[in-house]
Amino acid sequence: MTTNRILLTGAAGNLGRVLRETLVEDCSILRLSRRSLTGPAGAGEEIVPCDLADAAAVDRLLEGVDAVVHMGGQSVEAPWDVILQANIVGAINLWEAARKAGTKRIIFASSNHAIGMYPRTTRLDHESPPRPDGRYGLSKAFGEDLGALYAFKHGISCMAIRIGSSFPEVRSRRMLSTWMSYRDLTALIRTGLTADYLFEIVYGVSANKRSWWDNSNAERLGFRAQDDADVFADEVEGKGEASEIAEVLQGGAFANEEFSGELEQLL
Ligand code: NAI
Repeated sequence: MTTNRILLTGAAGNLGRVLRETLVEDCSILRLSRRSLTGPAGAGEEIVPCDLADAAAVDRLLEGVDAVVHMGGQSVEAPWDVILQANIVGAINLWEAARKAGTKRIIFASSNHAIGMYPRTTRLDHESPPRPDGRYGLSKAFGEDLGALYAFKHGISCMAIRIGSSFPEVRSRRMLSTWMSYRDLTALIRTGLTADYLFEIVYGVSANKRSWWDNSNAERLGFRAQDDADVFADEVEGKGEASEIAEVLQGGAFANEEFSGELEQLL
């Protein structure tokens, strides 16, 4: 199934650049959005620069869009005002513009940092409530709830993907559990674009032997991960975390940052 026009936000980012190469096959027109305009549009593409925090610009951005792959936003921990503009105001602007434009579906890049304060020994699934490990993680939990509001109330279907660590290769022991290959990420987004659902939470993770997450909800929707981080196990043998908190909690270094609680209470 191809969609007429897909909007990819965050098109200049790490994952946006990967998805730009593949999503063009899934639609008649791939609209690429990024904060500033650089480089020409390729065949089947159009480029619309837009700051997600600018509501009027986001309204224009969504005109004629059937589905959104929402990768744009602040992608690591930051002060409140940065998170607020990029991930809270930006997400509100996006969903509200989608409602006005009649957009049918939004695939949302949520994050493992929405659940980062769970211990690594707790196996989570799509029904596990958020336990954010910082301001960034909280903004992702907000995005999930925003997606649910607009799905159940306005019929804009939403797949919120709690992405683990999507990079070309595994860089640490933690990523033996959280890694998602670009090939699997693309496949999961394709599942998100084509499956029949209203609102779903899934995990953005490859078929890692050491995964902390039960991703049967994604499988139920048709996703089959092909890669396993364990092929990198020897290379990351000595690459653990810098503190006990980071080693024990799912969010790793993000969970450790600014931590002033009692680790025992979390186990
Ligand atoms: P990235 O930081 O490389 O890309 C995000 C893009 O969004 C950047 O190009 C940035 O300029 C843009 N952006 C930020 N604020 C914006 C605003 N106000 N208006 C318009 N654009 C804005 O991040 P990456 O790695 O490509 O991640 C994509 C998405 O996936 C992000 O939402 C991130 O939070 C999420 N994610 C990524 C993971 C990963 O392993 N790469 C893990 C978990 C979640």
